Amino acid sequence: MIQLKRVSKVYDAGKNEQVTALQDINFEVERGEIYGIIGRSGAGKSTLLRLINGLEAPTQGSVRVDGQEISRLGERELREARKKIGMIFQHFNLLWSRTVEDNVAFPLEVAGKSKAEIKQKVGELLERVGLANKAKAYPAQLSGGQKQRVGIARALANDPHVLLCDEATSALDPETTQSILRLLKEINRDTGITTLLITHEMSVVEAVCRRVAVIDNGQIVESGKVDEIFRNPKQTITRQLIRQTLKREEEATETGTVLRLTFPRLSEGLARIEEEAAKHGVSFRIVQAEGTADHQHPLTLQLTGDNEKVQQSVEALKQAAEAEVKVVADV
Ligand SMILES: Nc1ncnc2c1ncn2[C@@H]1O[C@H](COP(=O)(O)OP(=O)(O)O)[C@@H](O)[C@H]1O
Ligand SMILES: [Mg+2]
Repeated sequence: MIQLKRVSKVYDAGKNEQVTALQDINFEVERGEIYGIIGRSGAGKSTLLRLINGLEAPTQGSVRVDGQEISRLGERELREARKKIGMIFQHFNLLWSRTVEDNVAFPLEVAGKSKAEIKQKVGELLERVGLANKAKAYPAQLSGGQKQRVGIARALANDPHVLLCDEATSALDPETTQSILRLLKEINRDTGITTLLITHEMSVVEAVCRRVAVIDNGQIVESGKVDEIFRNPKQTITRQLIRQTLKREEEATETGTVLRLTFPRLSEGLARIEEEAAKHGVSFRIVQAEGTADHQHPLTLQLTGDNEKVQQSVEALKQAAEAEVKVVADV
């Protein structure tokens, strides 16, 4: 459905300077699949999308979408071809002075559809993305996830065969990201739309893509089935992208609590804290300890780790400590 052969793109950056954004890119996205392109910022991902929808012409090589050589199309043919390529963006690119329904109607107006047709289609699309009750709202009144749902509805207006997503979830929190990815997956399943998803987050690829290509410095350095790449990443950059995602997920569930508590003896108290922390798999830090080992003195303690485990440790320490345990702050 999308086929790139030996594609290079060199930008003229003025003053006789040139930037090679893409170099000898080869890949093929099959009809109906969700394909991921992952890479760091500046790797050449957005350039790749602009070549596929004909906003830029390749310096070398061939870009084919649905059997058509994109760079050989005339202006009119390109306009027609583009109607069948939907796009969604990181920052949604909505029209802020238009309501939700008028945003979705826009590409249909451009395509010259009748008022009745537009009304019917917009209704269907808003239903599809779960925004039927927001038709009259303005983008500024919506959450990030809802804005992207408008973006998706608008991208689907002319029944495209291809959907290109450029960092479509990068401005969203992890939960909203998952809900948008679920929607994209449903749309792919129901309509068979070929989806190319560009991201810098491995978790996004893992959630929805069947195959992935890793792009670095304008070159595809590794590609294949997502589960195989995850199991056996060959390139350092791929391992880094996987590790970064795992780390971020860990951080997302990590919370902390600061406690003030008193044990009959400080030394026993410390031993007990160590024991409970180890048992529940949380880490601890003594923020402040007063007095000496043999006297009863308050201790300020910070526990960090998985939210539930921190709570279990707090309960256990409450049992062990003599005086009341006070939760000072959740951090
Ligand atoms: N219009 C342009 N003119 C000159 N250089 C560009 C242009 N667009 C992108 N580049 C350069 O091409 C490289 C790839 O950019 P881009 O495709 O935007 O990467 P990504 O989307 O992966 O962050 C970068 O070095 C960028 O600075
Ligand atoms: Mg980009």
